[in-house]
Amino acid sequence: MEGMKSFYLETFGCQMNVHDSEKVIGTLMERGYRQVDTADDASLVLYNTCSIRDKAEQKVFNRLQHHKKNNGKQVIGVLGCVAQQEGEKIFDRAPHVSLVVGSASYTKLPELLVQIEQGGRRVTGLSLDTDETFDTPLTRRDNPYRAFLTIIEGCDKNCAYCVVPYTRGPERSRTSQSVLDETKQLAAAGYTEIVLLGQNVNSYLDPSARGWRFAQLLRAVGEVDGIRRVRFTTSHPRDFTKDIIDAIDETPSLCNHVHLPVQSGSTRVLEAMQRQYTRDQYMRRIEWMKNARRKITITTDIIVGFPGESEAEFQDTVSLLDAVEYDGLFSFKYSQRPNTPALALDDHVPEEEKGRRLLQLLEHQRTIMIRNNANYVGETENVHVEHFNSATGQWVGKTTQHKTVNFTHTRGPGAALEGSYLDVLVTRSGVASLVGEAVAVN
Ligand code: 5AD
Ligand code: SF4
Repeated sequence: MEGMKSFYLETFGCQMNVHDSEKVIGTLMERGYRQVDTADDASLVLYNTCSIRDKAEQKVFNRLQHHKKNNGKQVIGVLGCVAQQEGEKIFDRAPHVSLVVGSASYTKLPELLVQIEQGGRRVTGLSLDTDETFDTPLTRRDNPYRAFLTIIEGCDKNCAYCVVPYTRGPERSRTSQSVLDETKQLAAAGYTEIVLLGQNVNSYLDPSARGWRFAQLLRAVGEVDGIRRVRFTTSHPRDFTKDIIDAIDETPSLCNHVHLPVQSGSTRVLEAMQRQYTRDQYMRRIEWMKNARRKITITTDIIVGFPGESEAEFQDTVSLLDAVEYDGLFSFKYSQRPNTPALALDDHVPEEEKGRRLLQLLEHQRTIMIRNNANYVGETENVHVEHFNSATGQWVGKTTQHKTVNFTHTRGPGAALEGSYLDVLVTRSGVASLVGEAVAVN
C-alpha cells in the first residue's frame, strides 16, 4: 500500500552528505514514501554516514546496534561513506541491515528501492566507477533561503590521511549550464543564497565545450538575478588560483569568506601528508586574500599528531595561526583510516599528546578570534537572518564573512524576519560571534 511507506533518515558528516540526504529524501518522496521524525515509526530507516574519522564511523555502528531487535518489519539501510568503505562487510557486522549504498550510486536508488520493496535482503549499490553525478530535480531542500548546490563530486587528490577518494570516487564535474539552470530555478523559487559544494571545488572543470574553470562558474552563478550571496566549500590550496580572489573582488554577491584547509604549518609534515604544497605556497594564497580590495575572512582545518609530527613541527602550525590570523578553525586529532597511504607510516603520536596539541592550538586560536572580532565593534554589517533565539530574545544571522551575529530588533518572534537581509550595528564581540542591534531593513 503506497500510503504505508514511511522513512526515517539521519545524516552524519559534511555538507556534501547533508545535501545528498536532501536529494535522497526527494527521491523517496517521489516514490510515495513519507518522512517521519523517529526511527521507530518508520518502515525504512536510513543512516547517511561519514567515515572521515574513526569516531564518526563508530556512531553509525552504535545506531545500528539499536535496531538489533528488529521485528523484521523494518528495513534498515546504510548510505554514504561508511557504506562505500565497508561494503558487504556491513551485512556481517549488522545482519539486520538490508541496504548498503555508497554516494556514487545514488542515481540507482530508485531501482534499489524496487528491489527492497520486493523483499530483497542484501541490496547493494557500491560501484565507484560511475562518471555520472547525482543530478536530480527531486531535491527536498531543508532551508527555504539558502540552497546547497553540488558542482563537483569525488576527489582525485591522494592526501595520505584521507578516506574520501575511496568513499566518494573520482572527480566528476557537472556542466556549467546545469549548474546555472539550477541556480536560476532556485532564485525563482525564492532562494537568495547559494552554497556551491564539492570535495575540491577548485578543480572544477566544465565537461561541456565551454570548458569553464571554477572562477568563471563562480562569477556566472554570482550574476544570476535574485542571488544575493554565493559561498563555496571546500577548497584545496594546490588548486586555489588567484582568479578566484579577482572574482570575489569584482562580484558583490560572492561572499568574502574562504575556507582553505591547511592541515599543517610544517612543510615537512605537508609533504608526508602528500598535500602538494609548501607552507610558503600556502602563504602566497593567503597574501592574495589579504591584498584583496574586499576584506576576506579565512577559516581552515588542521590535523594534529599526524605520524611523525615532532613538537617543533607542531609549533610551526601554531605560528601559522599567527601568520594567517584565521577567523575560524576546525582541528582534529589524526585518526587512522582504512586504505589510506598513511597506514604505512609508523612513529605514531600518543593519544594524550595529540590531545595536548589540540588544546594548545584551540587556546591559541581563541585569542586570535577575540582580537579579530573586536575589530567589528562599531561597524554596520549586512546580516542574512536565520532564526529567532527565544532563549536569548535575539535574532541570529550571518554576515557575508560568515560571522554569526546575535542581534536585537524592535520586532520579536513571529515577525517573520527569517531570510531577510538587515543592516546591524555591531555593539559587542566575543570569541565566536558578534552582538548588535538592527538599524534598518533593506
Ligand atoms: N584524521 C583526522 N582528521 C582528518 N580529516 C580528514 N581525514 C582525517 C583523519 N584521518 C580532517 C581534515 C579535513 C577535515 C574535513 O577532516 O582536516 O579537512
Ligand atoms: Fe564524512 Fe568525508 Fe564522507 Fe563527508 S565526504 S561524509 S566528511 S567521509
